[in-house]
Amino acid sequence: MTARVVICCGSGGVGKTTVSAALALRFAREGHKVAVLTIDPARRLADSLGIGALTNTPRQVPLDTVDCEIRGSVDAIMLDAKTTFDDLVHKWSPDASTAERVLENRYYQAASARLGGSHEYMAMERLLQLTTDGDYDVVVLDTPPTRHALDFLRAPDRMAGLMDQGVLRWLIMPTTRGGWRALEFGSEAVARVLKRLIGRTVIGEIAEFFDAFRALSDRMRDRSVEVRALLRSPQTRFLLVTSPAHTARSEALFFLDVLQEEQMPFGGFLINRAIPAPVHPASALANDLEAARDHLPTEQREKLQEALTAAHRHRSERAAVHQAAIGELQAAGPEGAACWVIPEQPDDLHDLAGLISLAPYLPATVWRTD
Ligand SMILES: Nc1ncnc2c1ncn2[C@@H]1O[C@H](COP(=O)(O)OP(=O)(O)OP(=O)(O)O)[C@@H](O)[C@H]1O
Ligand SMILES: [Mg+2]
Repeated sequence: MTARVVICCGSGGVGKTTVSAALALRFAREGHKVAVLTIDPARRLADSLGIGALTNTPRQVPLDTVDCEIRGSVDAIMLDAKTTFDDLVHKWSPDASTAERVLENRYYQAASARLGGSHEYMAMERLLQLTTDGDYDVVVLDTPPTRHALDFLRAPDRMAGLMDQGVLRWLIMPTTRGGWRALEFGSEAVARVLKRLIGRTVIGEIAEFFDAFRALSDRMRDRSVEVRALLRSPQTRFLLVTSPAHTARSEALFFLDVLQEEQMPFGGFLINRAIPAPVHPASALANDLEAARDHLPTEQREKLQEALTAAHRHRSERAAVHQAAIGELQAAGPEGAACWVIPEQPDDLHDLAGLISLAPYLPATVWRTD
């Protein structure tokens, strides 16, 4: 079975991690088996889900203490690109000894850490694994801020491109047709000079790496094509998370353009931390102070009243600004685009109870047209 995918994108600090975790819990309430994957090494997701540490291996979020019925489950995963790469070597090598040789090879070790975009590519590979492994109904992906998130979304294309590129093809070419093996055994003058310059062992090791890597590269190429398709499939939705602030909205719209260019399915806007209009001047704060007010001397009572009125006016003004911002975003987005508004909460959202309290503002599904 293939899971549905929600990818939360947006500018820095708007609440992508918070929203991803809250959405995972929301979908679990609908009875789904959900995985939430973060590619941000920060501990925020683990902390707010009440898990000690997150790793590349899914960890179930303990939901027995929450005070609402959750029929499904949530597993949380933090990307470890190196482990994902090593796992692929094990999986795709023809035998265990080849896998070990690759893993021990220092060029592999350097390449798996630094090969152009390998971290980003492995994030997409991990997403594909979680989506197709059959354990989940929904996979929620928490991404880093916009510009960096784009590197992730483009990683499969870049990886496929890299695998197709002449240089890499030559490097991993079978021995008989040249490549690094040819340098090792060849009699060309250039090979001799190179060997003298950088040493035979080094060339041998490089040759070994590329030889083994050849076996992997075709698989990686196929997988990148699959990820590319997943990011554009109807089972996937990109949610653009933003605050009402101008810069965050501009970035959401910039990202929307990218999604449209790349033909990746937009699922809607999630406007986080919007200030709701206060209900009445005699707001909750005023009510709380009502009793105390009666005991105050007249002068202080008036001062308190003034302060409350000013606070109410200030809040109303900010709420109106946010309301206008929401309207502007809706007007700038595609017609009929879904738009969910999450109000600013009085406290930081740092635990399960806080995340679950966002449920009334979150969609039960984002795949409306399926
Ligand atoms: N609706 C809300 N009300 C109050 N606080 C919120 C709300 N949403 C998020 N926060 C708080 O805002 C802070 C930033 O949230 P979060 O870490 O989810 O943002 P982010 O977009 O993932 O950041 P980054 O770009 O650094 O990854 C956190 O402290 C979180 O608790
Ligand atoms: Mg984050």
